[in-house]
Amino acid sequence: MNPNSSNSWIYDKQSYVFRGKQPARLTIRNYQERDIEALIDIQRECFPPPYPSELWWNREQLLEHMARFPAGALCAEVDGQLVGSLTTLITSFDPAHAQHSWAEMTDNGYIRTHNPDGDTLYVVDISVSPAARGLGLGKQMLQSAYELVVALGLERLLGGGRMPGYGTVQHEVSPQQYVEDVLHGQRKDPVIGFLLHCGRTPLSVVADYLDDEESANYALLMEWQNPFRPI
Ligand SMILES: CC(C)(COP(=O)(O)OP(=O)(O)OC[C@H]1O[C@@H](n2cnc3c(N)ncnc32)[C@H](O)[C@@H]1OP(=O)(O)O)[C@@H](O)C(=O)NCCC(=O)NCCS
Repeated sequence: MNPNSSNSWIYDKQSYVFRGKQPARLTIRNYQERDIEALIDIQRECFPPPYPSELWWNREQLLEHMARFPAGALCAEVDGQLVGSLTTLITSFDPAHAQHSWAEMTDNGYIRTHNPDGDTLYVVDISVSPAARGLGLGKQMLQSAYELVVALGLERLLGGGRMPGYGTVQHEVSPQQYVEDVLHGQRKDPVIGFLLHCGRTPLSVVADYLDDEESANYALLMEWQNPFRPI
């Protein structure tokens, strides 16, 4: 599929998740203007202080996502209630020049940097409401983004994973050693752990990625490569 056509269709997927033994209907679809308030509420719940509230979505940013790359703006509803979102853009990524900040890559979350001719689907944000965690919604939304990578014929999905367990040990270990420890099962990190469970693989540690005290402003770039390659 030609990436230039990425604005001419929508994503809508129906399935079930389980709260214990109780099935609940899951919808993953593109978010729309009517969802804005719920999306901002989820950000507020997901990123409490010390995370800066200026980094929560605002209405203008969400409208930009829907206008510039509607297919890449995904949300999850359980039994009709909006409980999570995943926002992406397309960029050209050169692994030899991997260093970047979240603000540079995402245009401070407004995604005016979105380039339909790029080769990489970049995760701007993924959040699941605390009350809906552990149901597999984060993983399902990433699965939908992987499907988008394949549908658009992109090379990879990429994103900077926060490492919120690092801040408290930053004076004991380097961020690289922290990541090695997580990869060897000697430390646990909630976000890196989640991303590993979702099939992402580490590329490199980036400094000054985001104003994120819990992660000492570090992030781990993690990718998912499109398994379909031209021969
Ligand atoms: C990270 C986040 C999106 C996870 O969402 P979730 O819906 O609870 O995750 P899922 O239920 O889909 O979990 C998927 C897998 O990750 C694992 N996982 C989830 N949370 C984890 C954690 N804290 N540590 C280790 N693994 C974890 C699950 O066990 C599951 O593994 P499995 O499929 O092999 O059984 C959610 O906790 C969140 O919104 N956090 C705050 C926002 C944030 O930090 N976002 C990341 C920005 S980079």
